[in-house]
Amino acid sequence: MNHILYEETGQIGLVTINRPKALNALNSEILAELSAAFDAIDTQKIRCVVLTGAGEKAFVAGADIGEMRDLDSAGGEKFARTGNAVFRKIETFPLPVIAAVNGYALGGGCELALSCDIRICSEQAVFGQPEVGLGITPGFGGTQRLARLVGSGNAMELILSARNIKADEACRIGLVNRVCPPEELMETAMKLAGRIAGNAPVAVRAGKKAIHEGLQVDIEAGLAIEEKLFGSCFATEDQKEGMTAFLEKRKVEKFNNR
Ligand code: CAA
Repeated sequence: MNHILYEETGQIGLVTINRPKALNALNSEILAELSAAFDAIDTQKIRCVVLTGAGEKAFVAGADIGEMRDLDSAGGEKFARTGNAVFRKIETFPLPVIAAVNGYALGGGCELALSCDIRICSEQAVFGQPEVGLGITPGFGGTQRLARLVGSGNAMELILSARNIKADEACRIGLVNRVCPPEELMETAMKLAGRIAGNAPVAVRAGKKAIHEGLQVDIEAGLAIEEKLFGSCFATEDQKEGMTAFLEKRKVEKFNNR
């Protein structure tokens, strides 16, 4: 891969978008590599993924404007479809994905963070959907995921005004979970990933699935999804160990992902 780095620390997978000279802007090549990087993650061994951008300045400064400029209508739609497929893969990835937003998260970069399950950012992060200033709408899910996360009023303001916001405002409107000093960002993200990785894997996956799928349906259907996934946990050794450990007043020895 030319622009994606992947490393593992214990049971945590770290995916880094590595095109810092162009502020990690997403072109077709990077989108394909990002997709392949997630396909290659061993979801039995790894229990949580952290996604970040290389360099000091940017998480991802958007889709590649150079690649988009001369597209026609069909080409634009195809580009959006490609990005959406990759981001949907991340959103529905069986493992939790934490975005560690280390700088600019604009346009497709903000949308990439939105497709992750949890967002932690540095005090230097800047979020925004500048697309209407470029004559386009957000195309990698921004109109859909931003409104679902921060409400339609906040999404309308950000998308229609193309105003960038800093980390503290992003945190205030619920776009990010936490803000930390830049030098503590990766440690904070890895620590949270480690905490997630220490829990029963089948239950963690089921929790992610229940939240995502439940948000797409009415409350009755959502509760039915939860009941099924809750029930499926009782078929695991990890549920027996988790509850037995509690009743025996001891720590869980180890969750075995079974
Ligand atoms: N596409 C292509 N190249 C980009 C880029 C992008 N989205 N963002 C930054 N770059 C490139 C710049 O062209 C520049 O390249 P050169 O050194 O070869 O000139 C390099 O990265 C560094 O950028 P700047 O010199 O502009 O850095 P800066 O510190 O002065 O400004 C910035 C930083 C404010 C983030 C500015 O780069 C910027 O505004 N970038 C574009 C942000 C944007 O509009 N993103 C949305 C794209 S549209 C989209 O994403 C559609 C969608 O929903 C799918």
